[in-house]
Amino acid sequence: MLRSQLEKGALPGSSRTIFLHFRAWPPRGPVGHPAATGLFWGPVGTRQKFSSDLNSTRAPRTKRRRDLNVRTPRGTPPVAGSPPGQLGPEGGELMLKGVGWADDYKYAHLIHIGPFLTTCAVYHPDYVRAVMARSDKKDEFAYGFLRPWLGDGLLTTAGPKWFRNRRLLTPGFHFEILKPYVRLFSESTNVMLSNWEDLTAGSSIDVFHHMGLMTLDSMLKCALSQHTDCQTRKTNDYIAAVYDLADLTMKRGRTISHRIDLIYAMSSDGRKYRKACKLVHEYAERIIAERKEALMQRDGEERANRKKYLDFLDILLEAKDEDGNGLTDAEIRDEVDTFMFEGHDTTASGLSWTLHCLARHPGHQEKCRKEAQEVLKGRTEVTWDLLPSLKYITMSVKEALRLFPPVPMIFRQLESPLTFPDGRIIAKGASVNISTHTLHHNSHVWENHTEYDPLRFSPENSKDRHPYAFIPFAAGPRNCIGQHFAMNELKTAVALILRRFSLTPDDTLPEPIPVPKLILRAKKPGLFLKIKPLSA
Ligand code: HEM
Repeated sequence: MLRSQLEKGALPGSSRTIFLHFRAWPPRGPVGHPAATGLFWGPVGTRQKFSSDLNSTRAPRTKRRRDLNVRTPRGTPPVAGSPPGQLGPEGGELMLKGVGWADDYKYAHLIHIGPFLTTCAVYHPDYVRAVMARSDKKDEFAYGFLRPWLGDGLLTTAGPKWFRNRRLLTPGFHFEILKPYVRLFSESTNVMLSNWEDLTAGSSIDVFHHMGLMTLDSMLKCALSQHTDCQTRKTNDYIAAVYDLADLTMKRGRTISHRIDLIYAMSSDGRKYRKACKLVHEYAERIIAERKEALMQRDGEERANRKKYLDFLDILLEAKDEDGNGLTDAEIRDEVDTFMFEGHDTTASGLSWTLHCLARHPGHQEKCRKEAQEVLKGRTEVTWDLLPSLKYITMSVKEALRLFPPVPMIFRQLESPLTFPDGRIIAKGASVNISTHTLHHNSHVWENHTEYDPLRFSPENSKDRHPYAFIPFAAGPRNCIGQHFAMNELKTAVALILRRFSLTPDDTLPEPIPVPKLILRAKKPGLFLKIKPLSA
């Protein structure tokens, strides 16, 4: 049967509706991806031969025949309409269309990625909770290409290794560890603001660039105690390599021929990727080796007093499981690479979009500024004890994370059948995409979802909210380990920026369009804002 027939819901000789398509042939993807056996809501007899476990996972007949409201929306680009040789259009288009599809399909729909892969996008809080309460592995289709870069770090690993390492790393995010970092965030933000002072009042700046450098500076200090001049140097090889790796990973995912390792390795993109990977790995290895060497040269007492705070590398080097085994050098490097990527790029995205929202809403910007001035009382540093007083800023940041979640999609591959609260079932092996962006814009969940309104996050407006309606940091066992770190940095930076500068949109440029490049960025030309010192 043709897929187009399936999508139209037409079964020859039958009036039954087919609600879900499934992974078809081959049952294993072209790059050895352990493709799912399928999503099995199709009617009896439909390509059952590809499903080994159909009987055990099929929903009761009555449920399957209800209006499941889960279909492939019209206009989903399978292959047609994609650039030649690519699996689909640039993610941004699909992501924005997803918001419209959610109006018609309240809970979930299918996305065909090329001829072989189908993923089920879920974006209703009840459905999202059903997926996130479990700790299924990450879908190799989406995360596999991160592996040469991030190895088996927390983000990409699964099973007992993930469980052990998550337990070993959790103490690194205890509030006592996080406390001294707030001063480091202030320090990095103030370096950035001093650079801005040198610009002409009213200059238009590339916000992602500045936030990327600033959060990298913070991450280098907090994770590795590296106090560099990365914000003042014109170019930074490391940050350029991280950007290249994110772009190339997304591009590889979309390019059919590049899914084959050998072809990719021989392509110019593949060579560029290898070079960038080598650079970031060598950077991490050098710092780890230097720290180990320094640790060996110090006696115990000196080690305890050597600096005012423990960084993540200290935690990684000193972590021991119940058998007294620590992390290997390779594991430490994977975690360092993961933190450096997850920890700076996501926060830079959150911060950039927050500033974008505040620049477009001068009223909210002014309220945040007033709060920052009242709380800081002329101080140039935010400290740990001041953070809870930044209430309006916290609400403004959260509302920006709702409209522009830095991680707009999360993929899982089901390790056992999944039953949604209404009885619908997805089979083991299926790919599920938790579409944070669509969830945060789901008109069945959020009233006036396009409107920027920080008061949505006031205590009274939040108290009856579904716990899975707002999940910029994911939720459940595989939630973001760095969420408090990130929120502290976002609040600190917003307070210090607004204390010294006013922000307005650059009207000479088109409205920035969000585009998922692993992290939510802005489509070219990017996100530009005009900055003006308040004293000017
Ligand atoms: C605004 C900033 C941030 C956002 C929006 C964010 C969001 C997320 C999300 C959605 C996930 C789940 C990803 C998935 O399951 O595929 C995640 C995981 C993770 N994040 Fe963050 N993150 C942020 C900042 C940070 C920071 C600052 C760090 C480290 C210092 C960090 C470290 C991690 C790690 C290690 C994981 C994997 C956790 C696991 O699977 O056990 N993130 N983050």
